[in-house]
Amino acid sequence: MASPLRFDGRVVLVTGAGGGLGRAYALAFAERGALVVVNDLGGDFKGVGKGSSAADKVVEEIRRKGGKAVANYDSVEAGEKLVKTALDTFGRIDVVVNNAGILRDRSFSRISDEDWDIIHRVHLRGSFQVTRAAWDHMKKQKFGRILMTSSASGIYGNFGQANYGAAKLGILGLCNTLAIEGRKSNIHCNTIAPSAGSRMTETVMPEDLVEALKPEYVAPLVLWLCHESCEENGSLFEVGAGWIGKLRWERTLGAIVRKRNQPMTPEAVRDNWEKICDFSNASKPQTIQESTGGIIEVLHKIDSEGISPNHTSHAAPAATSGFAGAVGHKLPSFSSSYTELESIMYALGVGASVKNPKDLKFVYEGSADFSCLPTFGVIIAQKSMMNGGLAEIPGLSINFAKVLHGEQYLELYKPLPRSGELKCEAVVADILDKGSGVVIVMDVYSYSGKELICYNQFSIFVVGSGGFGGKRTSEKLKAAVVVPNRPPDAVLRDTTSLNQAALYRLSGDWNPLHIDPSFASIAGFEKPILHGLCTFGFSARHVLQKFADNDVSRFKAIKVRFAKPVYPGQTLQTEMWKEGNRIHFQTKVQETGDIVISNAYVDLVPASGDSAQTPQGGELQSALIFGEIGRRLKNVGREVVKKVNAVFEWHITKGGSVAAKWTIDLKSGSGEVYQGPAKGSADTTIIISDDDFMEVVMGKLDPQKAFFSGRLKARGNILLSQKLQMILKDYAKL
Ligand code: NAI
Repeated sequence: MASPLRFDGRVVLVTGAGGGLGRAYALAFAERGALVVVNDLGGDFKGVGKGSSAADKVVEEIRRKGGKAVANYDSVEAGEKLVKTALDTFGRIDVVVNNAGILRDRSFSRISDEDWDIIHRVHLRGSFQVTRAAWDHMKKQKFGRILMTSSASGIYGNFGQANYGAAKLGILGLCNTLAIEGRKSNIHCNTIAPSAGSRMTETVMPEDLVEALKPEYVAPLVLWLCHESCEENGSLFEVGAGWIGKLRWERTLGAIVRKRNQPMTPEAVRDNWEKICDFSNASKPQTIQESTGGIIEVLHKIDSEGISPNHTSHAAPAATSGFAGAVGHKLPSFSSSYTELESIMYALGVGASVKNPKDLKFVYEGSADFSCLPTFGVIIAQKSMMNGGLAEIPGLSINFAKVLHGEQYLELYKPLPRSGELKCEAVVADILDKGSGVVIVMDVYSYSGKELICYNQFSIFVVGSGGFGGKRTSEKLKAAVVVPNRPPDAVLRDTTSLNQAALYRLSGDWNPLHIDPSFASIAGFEKPILHGLCTFGFSARHVLQKFADNDVSRFKAIKVRFAKPVYPGQTLQTEMWKEGNRIHFQTKVQETGDIVISNAYVDLVPASGDSAQTPQGGELQSALIFGEIGRRLKNVGREVVKKVNAVFEWHITKGGSVAAKWTIDLKSGSGEVYQGPAKGSADTTIIISDDDFMEVVMGKLDPQKAFFSGRLKARGNILLSQKLQMILKDYAKL
């Protein structure tokens, strides 16, 4: 049998210990070795009068039984004096049992100020004064046990006890905070609401009940809660007749009665009243974070999803039957524009870094081959769903707190422009019944003008809404593919920063799950997690870096399955297998070995060797201009050669990499323009994108400004580039 609970050497102060419950506690503590301060003012049960005999009798009884005790006759309102008795007599204070109490029962309208005040002074203020006097001693010794005495009258209310009930529940509020503030100093504070026969209850209880409900049936709980081995803290118990039960708060799931951008009305409250008060599936919040976290979650839901009262159903088995009808539903089309700023912010969010010189083109708008990372295409499409459209799909009644991002597919039809305005059209492609949940397959098409730039497919898993008898698979779903069963051909690693999610969210996914610790703990995570799409961006970057030399024009498509969460600060390890133009990959957290992205692949546009480096000029707008310059030189070549006397080599970039090289030779004969690098050596090499070249030629972009803003790069004799304007202005006009 486990050893008995002893209090040897512990100094215990019990207030109001001259009779009733307090006396039982004092005797029980002393019997188990405690040094007891028996406090009692000695007045009547209404708080009138005072005397020493009540406390003295109990001290005498303890001593008679071989225990150690000392009396104190002060009111608990003078808390310091009570604690001083403990310190002076026994040298320390370990346990405080706040028990002293009186009654001034009156129906509410008859409560006098004095009746109100004295009840608060003895119960609430007295508990405060005594506890505060002991607090610092307990903190210093890193040990303390405090017991508060509340009452069923406070918890449930009782006719004629408004003053008493208010003070008694105030004590519970005091305890709740002391439990939090004392925890780190090993000071625990709990509250009981006892039922026992005493002089206080004999006025309201039948005689036999007073006799039957012995204080000795409450004392053992008090001793246990005050023992050094008891870890309980901040709890409330009802106790009496040998029974003990614990209480907690319960909260209905409630209902959101407000719609985005609309006033909240009392009618909406009335119409949702049943749901607001429905305790089925109720939650039991234990901390203020859990309580307010739920409220913050509502703000997010309303802001990001535009949830209407119809969408608050949690189980919603009836509503799910309408899922099939939602297939084919189009969300309102959505336009979103972005600039270099957004693409750079995204690149930083998915780990592009100046540490890697080859990443500069993703984070510096002045790079000659500045490019938008291909996976930025998902951000553009995501905004069309974040805008609330998902919540407005008819027949779709889902709990957005239970939504997970399951899989993602992205296909690009051309490299994303460095800035632009894209229009997105989203449609519910299919709805699958996975039993444990529902998968909503959303297709999003993004256009620049009429040109389709990219296509996204989001697979959104809604936990707990399945089992409506729908189909399990869909031919519309872009399938994830198992990775090859051999060691990977390449592995790249990147350690995410602690701020990774804080940075990534700036790209538009504001879900507090990724930044707010209390929100994350409500969702069941030990701390905020990284966005799945952030890990997705890291992995795609790894593939692009390893197998396409960061050439964004070679990125065709990507498919991933999100398997597990990642915490900011962890190291992502992308394992890659090359199979033709498909790069299979999976991503692990290096520290744990967990696969966080599984069954994934990137499809690349085949590299076409040299011809990819210097494609036929016909693909580029600049080819026409070079052709025209060549034609015009035939007439005026000699004259221009005299003026310029230099060879210019041009590197025309497209989608971030060099797409064509041209040479304008204005040094010999009557000049010459040809495709390819300079036959001899070039005086100046100019690197510019095909688009910017056109802007310069059309007079929209000043070459010097382009140079200083980094859009035009020159190597070699840079001064010669000042003559460019002349060449282009005079000879390139179409
Ligand atoms: P009780 O009247 O037998 O004991 C209270 C003791 O506190 C008395 O000995 C009294 O002299 C002392 N006291 C009163 N004012 C004081 C002050 N200002 N300073 C120091 N001592 C003071 O009553 P009982 O039933 O033992 O109550 C103990 C505690 O339990 C009280 O806080 C009471 O409100 C609470 N309680 C009791 C219930 C019961 O069923 N007995 C029900 C709910 C709560």
